[in-house]
Amino acid sequence: MSICLIGFMGSGKTTIGKALCNELHINWVDLDQYIEEKEKRKISMIFKENGEAYFRVLEHNYLKALIHEEGIISTGGGIITTPENRQLLQKTITVYLEYPFEILYQRIEGDETRPLATSYNALKERFETRLSLYESASRITIKCQDKSINEVVQEIATYIEKMA
Ligand code: S3P
Repeated sequence: MSICLIGFMGSGKTTIGKALCNELHINWVDLDQYIEEKEKRKISMIFKENGEAYFRVLEHNYLKALIHEEGIISTGGGIITTPENRQLLQKTITVYLEYPFEILYQRIEGDETRPLATSYNALKERFETRLSLYESASRITIKCQDKSINEVVQEIATYIEKMA
């Protein structure tokens, strides 16, 4: 079974995924990096050339291909926007990395590698419409504010050990 990390842009899914991989000694894949390698294009280029809907189809297909494997998957922030993806995530160990919006905004503001990192208001609206989707797709929510990477990793590792 896989461990999927979900959360809004800037919530540290990649960083925590890498650190969790070192802690648990299991495979780790970053879904966005995987898509870029397979498609031989940056995510920002896929959005620019083919649009968001096209990206969501790719994202779904690659998630579906990887989710049944043993290991950690750091997903992209919009993975929960389709019911098909939420269904897949509900069947595995999905961990929601939760932060208040203001912290996330400071981290992603002006990031040109993120095509959806637009204005404050647009991002806030996107964040708010997604909140309940992150909750419904995950088994556990980690409140990450004021916690170190190691503290978050230990919290996830403890949860997984208890499940085993
Ligand atoms: C997206 C988040 C990005 C990436 C794409 C779309 C989103 O990943 O998948 O730009 O819809 O929130 P990060 O959460 O790693 O920035």
